[in-house]
Amino acid sequence: MNWSDKKRLVEILEAFAYGGFAYYINRSRLSKCVSLKCRIRCWFVGCFCTPEKKSLPFYFRKVIEGLGPTFIKLGQILSLRPDFIPADYCDELRKLQDHVPPFPFEEVKKIIEQELKQPLSSVFTTFEQNPIASASIAQVHKAKLKNGTVVAVKVQRPNLNERIEQDLRVIAWAAEYMEKKWENCRPYRPKKLAEEFSDWTRKELDFRNEATYADEVRKNFKGNRTAVIPRVYWDCTTKRVLTMQFIEGCNIYDERCLARNKINRKKLATAGARLMFEQAIVHGMFHGDPHPGNLLAIKHNRLGFLDFGIIGRLPKDTRKKLLLILSHLVRKEFDEATKHTLEIAEIAVDSDTQGYKNTLYLIFSSWYGSQLKEGTLTRAFFNAIAEGVHHKVYFPPDLVLFSKMLVTTESVGALLNPEFDISKDAKPFIEDLMSAEMSPIKFIKGFIKNALEYGELIEELPKHIVHIIKKLEESVRER
Ligand SMILES: Nc1ncnc2c1ncn2[C@@H]1O[C@H](COP(=O)(O)OP(=O)(O)O)[C@@H](O)[C@H]1O
Ligand SMILES: [Mg+2]
Repeated sequence: MNWSDKKRLVEILEAFAYGGFAYYINRSRLSKCVSLKCRIRCWFVGCFCTPEKKSLPFYFRKVIEGLGPTFIKLGQILSLRPDFIPADYCDELRKLQDHVPPFPFEEVKKIIEQELKQPLSSVFTTFEQNPIASASIAQVHKAKLKNGTVVAVKVQRPNLNERIEQDLRVIAWAAEYMEKKWENCRPYRPKKLAEEFSDWTRKELDFRNEATYADEVRKNFKGNRTAVIPRVYWDCTTKRVLTMQFIEGCNIYDERCLARNKINRKKLATAGARLMFEQAIVHGMFHGDPHPGNLLAIKHNRLGFLDFGIIGRLPKDTRKKLLLILSHLVRKEFDEATKHTLEIAEIAVDSDTQGYKNTLYLIFSSWYGSQLKEGTLTRAFFNAIAEGVHHKVYFPPDLVLFSKMLVTTESVGALLNPEFDISKDAKPFIEDLMSAEMSPIKFIKGFIKNALEYGELIEELPKHIVHIIKKLEESVRER
């Protein structure tokens, strides 16, 4: 960290101290980093005492909101990582406000002309000066191409790179500090999380990545009549400018718009869940954050997906296992579901497998017990994945993202149809997929190809042995 990074670290620590977290800063032995003024003020205001537990997540969100784009992104990503942070923080971070005042049109014009290397007017016949949305990384403008196509142009904020890179360095330092100095933080692997976050953020800063993902999802849905994915106009897309087809649709909260377009909310909810399952289980690539701001309800009960900044990928064998887990869960076969959940986990020498197994069984069976109340299948699965870390059982980040995506999908479904229940609405779909995936011909072919891939059928061998053999096999292959 250079001098300017250290200054930023102090700024961040002070923001947390003023925001109600001085007690923790003190305990972490970082209080010597904050200014005397801050320490004195905190002393007087009393923010060194243990803050009221309940309101902490709220203050945490407020501090994050004030720290700018990197932290807003970090908060958004953390809200998708229930395995790392408590559920009440997750829920609070979900509400992170990412509306910031737009930057002026002159800047927008300058950036577009720099990036596309031609005057704005020679690319667009019209360009709306006021953005449709303005967030901490970019803002979106409606425009029209020369050929008459209406487009949405996402333009990155000026001077973001340096600020974000500096914050990433500070976050990396903090993660290392936590891992070194705080023993009880270690199982949460903050360094690894910080690295993942940096990768993600750097990818998001190059819009060509998002454009490629959008293209891929669009291709995967070719021929699908329900999913609408904006086409990317590559001639007008660069690192900092993303030009895509403008999708006309309703926000799913906009009841009047839904009614005007004769959208059947029940049908849309079921269709949405199917589309998400299809992406994850069939395509192996899914929209990581399908919250209402990234969705549009379109005439004839179609669903538009926007914002491919966060994408999850699932390898084929994981998808097969997921399908098994979900189908056992919807059939209430908890032993089986538990068994397969362990198979997709990363198990270390010091993992408390038995403890985790017991927890899983408890989560799954209490889901069944509380089914008539608020317990849902996706929540159970999500809790199952999130609990792993407490037993030193880890899951790949994309799998955690999948579990969170299911919860988001379900809450969007419930917004549209209060009776929506993914375990009922998606059951026929999961079963269709199961029978396609597990058809005898496919099965025999797969069995011959790699008998161990179907480990669940080798009844004689205890599961963990199959798992260990597989891990060994993988590590041999990697070498
Ligand atoms: N292709 C599009 N068609 C119509 N509206 C769009 C399109 N792309 C973005 N928008 C609008 O801009 C908003 C922000 O875009 P999004 O890609 O989600 O950016 P962010 O990464 O800041 O969340 C969306 O919620 C939507 O209202
Ligand atoms: Mg968005």
